[in-house]
Amino acid sequence: MASISLPSPQTTFLQTLLKHQFLPSVKPSLKSTSLLGRTAIITGGSTGIGLACAKLLLSLQLPHLIIATRSSEKGEKAASELGELYPKANVEFWRLDLNSYESVRQFACRCATLSSLDIAILNAGIMKNDFIANVSTGHEETFQVNYLSAALLAILLIPVLTASLSNGPGRLTIVSSVAAVTTAFPEKDFVPIIPGFDREDNWSSSVAKQRYDVTKLLLLMFMFKLSSLVKAEDVIINAVDPGFTLGTELFRNISLAIKVPMWPLAKLIAISPEKGAWTYVDACIHKGAESHGSFLSDWQIHAFHPIMYTPEGDSLMNRLWGETIRELECDEKYIISDSK
Ligand SMILES: NC(=O)c1ccc[n+]([C@@H]2O[C@H](COP(=O)([O-])OP(=O)(O)OC[C@H]3O[C@@H](n4cnc5c(N)ncnc54)[C@H](OP(=O)(O)O)[C@@H]3O)[C@@H](O)[C@H]2O)c1
Repeated sequence: MASISLPSPQTTFLQTLLKHQFLPSVKPSLKSTSLLGRTAIITGGSTGIGLACAKLLLSLQLPHLIIATRSSEKGEKAASELGELYPKANVEFWRLDLNSYESVRQFACRCATLSSLDIAILNAGIMKNDFIANVSTGHEETFQVNYLSAALLAILLIPVLTASLSNGPGRLTIVSSVAAVTTAFPEKDFVPIIPGFDREDNWSSSVAKQRYDVTKLLLLMFMFKLSSLVKAEDVIINAVDPGFTLGTELFRNISLAIKVPMWPLAKLIAISPEKGAWTYVDACIHKGAESHGSFLSDWQIHAFHPIMYTPEGDSLMNRLWGETIRELECDEKYIISDSK
């Protein structure tokens, strides 16, 4: 059953987290999975869960992998180390800086030169403590990287993934978080929505983590709308939560006031990047058309945020979509599948 057809969730973040970490569903086997003949892209593939996912994809015989990230030094190092581990594969680093629309557009144009692109995993993301306005767009950086630029890349990759149907539908998996479906979301009252995220007077170190959660919720809303315009026969679009994962660099910028109390819980329940990576592979390979437009967590199709089941949420999602399309200067008619 799709996320939108499930009952609206009533659980808190802690309840959901504890259930997923202590009573997880059965992890699917990858024994008979082969990615021979496919090409995949993973954004933010030079560290953390993205790097673990890159290794996992290559271990499944993927012949061509593109690591897309902002740091040439880290990206080239990751690509060359992965290439040594898997010498039969072509592992490339392509620069992509989600702080710049120009970089996203150039990256997507380069993707269009590939003979085929089968899988795109939009994994790159940040969590910030301080308010930093992006120099080229003026948007707050977490909102820019996690939401706006990820949305632009998703839109621009749809025609590229649609054109490569030799291995079945293209696959677009966007990395969200289970924190997205339990966040308080006071930002729903911003009118218009986008400029509300850019106001420094709306920001404090105590809302920084919540803003991260909300960017992941906006991604779910965006993914849901995008999937309604694209046929699952062309591109299967879904979102995934990797689970609470230690051993990555996501928490590098958060304050000690959050890190210190989080640490004992993290040591007790967090999973490894390798396990987080497995959820991506499950989302973009194992799950099929039934997951189109849905959010996956704990290997299952999971409910969305309660607001997404309400008329208020419906109009908010339409407003968000309209503002996003205008911000990104995209034309909806280029996204819609031919026969939709
Ligand atoms: N760890 C968790 O508990 C958890 C839970 C739920 C969801 N997630 C999500 O999982 C994804 C991976 O997180 P992680 O824990 O593996 O963290 P991570 O180690 O910090 O990985 C994030 C990746 O994104 C890249 N990135 C950041 N800003 C970028 C930009 N402007 N342009 C291009 N790439 C950029 C980073 O590159 P640099 O190294 O150059 O910064 C890094 O490779 C994120 O979307 C995160 O929100 C994580």
